[in-house]
Amino acid sequence: MEVIIRDTVEEVSLLGAQVVAQLLRQKPQCVLGLATGRTPLRLYRELIRLHEKEKLDFSQVTTFNLDEYVGLPPGHPQSYHFYMRENLFRHVNLPPGSTHIPDGCAPDLRFHCFEYEEAIRAAGGIDLQLLGIGSNGHIGFNEPTGSLNSRTWIKILSEKTLHDNASHFATPEEQPRHVVTMGIGTIREAGHCIVLASGAQKSNAVKAMIEGPVSSMCPASALQLHPRTTVIADSDAAARLDQLEHYRWIEQHKLGWQKYS
Ligand code: PGA
Repeated sequence: MEVIIRDTVEEVSLLGAQVVAQLLRQKPQCVLGLATGRTPLRLYRELIRLHEKEKLDFSQVTTFNLDEYVGLPPGHPQSYHFYMRENLFRHVNLPPGSTHIPDGCAPDLRFHCFEYEEAIRAAGGIDLQLLGIGSNGHIGFNEPTGSLNSRTWIKILSEKTLHDNASHFATPEEQPRHVVTMGIGTIREAGHCIVLASGAQKSNAVKAMIEGPVSSMCPASALQLHPRTTVIADSDAAARLDQLEHYRWIEQHKLGWQKYS
């Protein structure tokens, strides 16, 4: 894995945005895998800024989001449809029909999961997949002990994840227990995966992902088997890594074309 450590969450987000922007400029017809949650918010703000100020063009881009809550309609403020519309889609020139998010209200959810996988394949696969990481090591909503080869499917959230995200919902009853998420196998087919992590609450998961064994106890550790994964972490999230000096050494010795900035 490529491990890049920055002092602040701001720097993490700006570097993440730069990687996305670089791809859009090199391959205007790219397919982006998008994530929700607190982590990518600043990255999306930067992409909007680049669109407004530097004409970053989304007109030929296709997007696929990782996941959605079962039962929340697209207009629900906690749905990921709402999140994406408010935090990115309505601010940039993505054409209608070019964005895809699992439909947590599909009448036949199981069939919908197959259709979602088929849509990713039909688009030619995902070039760049953005990911956050849960404090329990989940990516997408693939919780510990799930298959590391899973495909898009309906999953049950762990109590840890429900606890971590409870503050988004007014009452526990409103918080869905079920989600549709791309599987680990789906995510691992992306050409390039970027995991953003910030804050001390992610430090155990970041250590397990990068330096732990490949294990379903930390689903993100499956990315060790991916040919091109970049982890961008702030110093709090990276604090428990044993090989910090090694990652800094590698970064100092990259060839020009291997650097993002
Ligand atoms: P967060 O969620 O960005 O809100 O911390 C990350 C995740 O659960 O994947």
